[in-house]
Amino acid sequence: MHDDPSRVLIFDTTLRDGEQSPGISLNATEKLEIAQQLARLGVDIIEAGFPIASPGDFEAVRLIAQEVRGPVIAGLARANPADVERAWEAVRDAERPRIHTFVSTSDIHIEHQLQGTRDDVRGLARAAVAQAKEHVDDIEFSPMDATRADVEFTAEVLQIAIDEGATTINIPDTVGYTTPDEFKRFLGRLYELVPALRDVVLSVHCHDDLGLAVANSFAGIQAGARQVECAVNGIGERAGNAALEEIVMLLHTRQSDIGLHTAAVTTEIARTSRLVSRLTGYPVQPNKAIIGRNAFVHESGIHQDGILKERTTYEIMDARTVGLEANQLVLGKHSGRHALRQALEELGYQVEGQALNTAFKRFKEIADKKKQVTAMDLEALVTDELREELVGYTFEWFDVEASTRRPPHATVGVRTPDGEEVQGSFTGDGPVDAIFRAINAATGIDARLREFRVDAVTGGEDALGETSVVIEIDGQSAAGQGVATDILEAAGRAYVRALSNGVRRARAAQELPAVTSRPPELTAP
Ligand code: KIV
Ligand code: ZN
Repeated sequence: MHDDPSRVLIFDTTLRDGEQSPGISLNATEKLEIAQQLARLGVDIIEAGFPIASPGDFEAVRLIAQEVRGPVIAGLARANPADVERAWEAVRDAERPRIHTFVSTSDIHIEHQLQGTRDDVRGLARAAVAQAKEHVDDIEFSPMDATRADVEFTAEVLQIAIDEGATTINIPDTVGYTTPDEFKRFLGRLYELVPALRDVVLSVHCHDDLGLAVANSFAGIQAGARQVECAVNGIGERAGNAALEEIVMLLHTRQSDIGLHTAAVTTEIARTSRLVSRLTGYPVQPNKAIIGRNAFVHESGIHQDGILKERTTYEIMDARTVGLEANQLVLGKHSGRHALRQALEELGYQVEGQALNTAFKRFKEIADKKKQVTAMDLEALVTDELREELVGYTFEWFDVEASTRRPPHATVGVRTPDGEEVQGSFTGDGPVDAIFRAINAATGIDARLREFRVDAVTGGEDALGETSVVIEIDGQSAAGQGVATDILEAAGRAYVRALSNGVRRARAAQELPAVTSRPPELTAP
């Protein structure tokens, strides 16, 4: 247990479990950007990644450990010496480093995945925690697939981990199988079997396969857990992890009944959600609790009438509490560079030098076409520009001839990582298809489109268009996003970014024996 028994620690795993969602490939700078925003959001622990998974993962965790101040920075490690060492190397520069190590305790995992015995698991847990303890005091241990495991055996392994010095014990519902009542009973039984659990922080980590991740996490809190593992927008393996924003707002909105609180700065929720959605390419469904576009919109006449008379008739939360009021006018067409820099600073972005010049150029282009440039527009623009410096290929220009009488024909110019401009043309089924295939022709990369989505950043006829694409190159998926007033331009930008991400991923996969030759008994979580 930590110092304040009424405080629930928020352990954010957006950059680790969240990043394991198919198609997401964040680079180190993007991860750092998210981690910095998570620190502004006031999460207690950031699980920055799985350092042994690849040099890219390692570098990203190390960068976050070096740069981000405030939250504990955790690195994940399977229960084996190489993983623990690599995790330590990655987090050692953090203000407050943590090693999070895990091994499965369910028979189904022990038999088929570890291909070992319960005794092996006891040994692995003991050795991993002891090794981590040589480096750092803050150690988290997780018995993977605990909710399908024998509770007595899991308890034995937890006792070993605590004896060796684990300070947080995290109980994962790895496959999203449990139910709130069952989970509560399971945790209650662990408390009976391992009284020492009361001396450490009990944590829960729930997946959403049956749509119960938040309900199960809440049941865990009711059973005594004081750390919840969650991810922004609920992203994560398969159906995802418990959604951070839902847990935080549940505890915030019902605080007087539940009597627990978090340290999260709720007004940063909406911005964090938009940043994660934009950088991962994972959309937020319109009716998503807390941060969906419609979460505070009242459609029915009866509801609207009630809201006009008294907001609380149909609203349990105020949109401002989660920072959803950000869409105000901040700059006009005649605003200068100084005003732009100030507005960006207010949004939490320090943009200087060449980056400011580029942002200003894009701002002017947009302000020429749009009557009002809002905070959300600026945010979209800056994250878009930020990505520009990171990627290998750049979308330079396009021409499309489109008509209802002839198939559309597109020609594009793309700058390669070597700085050379290459051109390609294609006649496609639609203008977007023609542009995408012209980009393939220009770069010589055989990418296939898997998903394509267009959203308006704000409302109104002149809204900025934000496009997200997921492509596949050689069986690997990659996502990209683009923002522009013209959706064809936004689509081209998004596609070229997805190409760059895909190429980078494919290259990394070839260079990285750690990912492909992972020992079968130690497969990734
Ligand atoms: O779902 C899971 O079991 C995990 C562990 C590594 C905690 O992600
Ligand atoms: Zn998980």
